[in-house]
Amino acid sequence: MNGSRREFLTASALAAGAALGFGGLPRLSWARREVGAGKRMLILGGTGFLGPHVVEEAKKAGWHVTTFTRGRTNADLFEDDPAVEGLIGNRDGDLKSLEGKTWDAVVDTSGYVPRIVRDSATLLKDSVGQYVFISSISAFADFDKVGIDESYPVGKMEDETVESMGENFQNYGPLKALCEQAAEAAIPGRVTNIRPGYIVGPRDSSGRFNYWPVRVKRGGEMIAPGDPSDPVQIIDVRDLAAWIVHCCDQKVVGVFNATGPDRKMSIAEMIEACKQGTGGDPKLVWIDADFLQEHGAGLPIWAPPRGPYTGFAQVDCRRAIAAGLRFRPASQTARDTLEWYNALPEDARQRRLAAMPPEKEAEILAAWKEAHPGG
Ligand SMILES: NC(=O)c1ccc[n+]([C@@H]2O[C@H](COP(=O)([O-])OP(=O)(O)OC[C@H]3O[C@@H](n4cnc5c(N)ncnc54)[C@H](OP(=O)(O)O)[C@@H]3O)[C@@H](O)[C@H]2O)c1
Repeated sequence: MNGSRREFLTASALAAGAALGFGGLPRLSWARREVGAGKRMLILGGTGFLGPHVVEEAKKAGWHVTTFTRGRTNADLFEDDPAVEGLIGNRDGDLKSLEGKTWDAVVDTSGYVPRIVRDSATLLKDSVGQYVFISSISAFADFDKVGIDESYPVGKMEDETVESMGENFQNYGPLKALCEQAAEAAIPGRVTNIRPGYIVGPRDSSGRFNYWPVRVKRGGEMIAPGDPSDPVQIIDVRDLAAWIVHCCDQKVVGVFNATGPDRKMSIAEMIEACKQGTGGDPKLVWIDADFLQEHGAGLPIWAPPRGPYTGFAQVDCRRAIAAGLRFRPASQTARDTLEWYNALPEDARQRRLAAMPPEKEAEILAAWKEAHPGG
């Protein structure tokens, strides 16, 4: 972290704000400034996975970007970038560095608790044009149905004061739904609530999608899970970031599912895309979902489309597509994910792979062959 650069940038931002008459008539200031004329974006977050891609896409589209973080995660990421200002604070109780400044749009990538989203949205309501909240499809009450659109019921908390995620992370979705509502209540009519499904691609620390291009590239006999036609939904983080910026440019508001792609994608197609993107050519052994479950073998991104997962990978994202969301081929995502992954230091690679260990995979393959002699 470079304190002097931050002080300089903060001082110049304040000076710019004063010159434009911010503070007195903030909404008028926002409305007056046209797209392309010094657009200013605040990201509540910005240095993890999605945030840096939003920064890059916003810069490409001509935005000046401010990040707001505690200075813990990749704190030096934009240190030498004159187009990015870094403010330090804490969403939970220390928003001082946001006071007295204005932005055309805020992108909230780090909101998980309604009180905290309410605090930032309330503070910023007269000093921003638009509040984009990154929610999740986990906000939905369930996935009992195929083709869930934005009108489907969201999950509820019995006690809405609870802020913990819960033992099995079961409160994450209902809390996201409450965060969406808190943002909309604070800034009515100027909120974009975006509900992504699995976000994948370079910088993904969850390791979920990373498993697939890495495994496909390794080759040999490989477990392909379930039925080849089982649906999967993924969105490349760069496509999501570009669309978030598009929403800010076009002042798109409302609630949007942001899963992908724009057609049904099967697990077989996703694996094929990984082959194309990485040049890997494993020998696929399709193993049914029950057998995998009996052997305690979960694989990331895929889930059999039944029970609680019936509609999980078939969420309707047509509204976002109509509002400009576009998707690159999954083979590009696989290629770039592998390239990024291979460039990581060895210890970081391990942490970014939600993998089935090779010995476990070999064990299951052997058990499957024993149970199905002759293939
Ligand atoms: N990954 C998926 O598949 C998926 C799917 C659906 C939805 N989502 C949603 O997408 C979003 C992705 O977020 P991301 O983590 O990639 O965003 P990000 O903006 O890249 O990273 C999170 C940022 O928040 C900052 N931060 C964390 N706690 C903070 C606090 N108390 N005060 C100020 N700053 C704080 C971190 O910096 P410091 O640590 O330095 O503070 C970091 O810069 C999340 O909202 C997630 O729920 C993800």
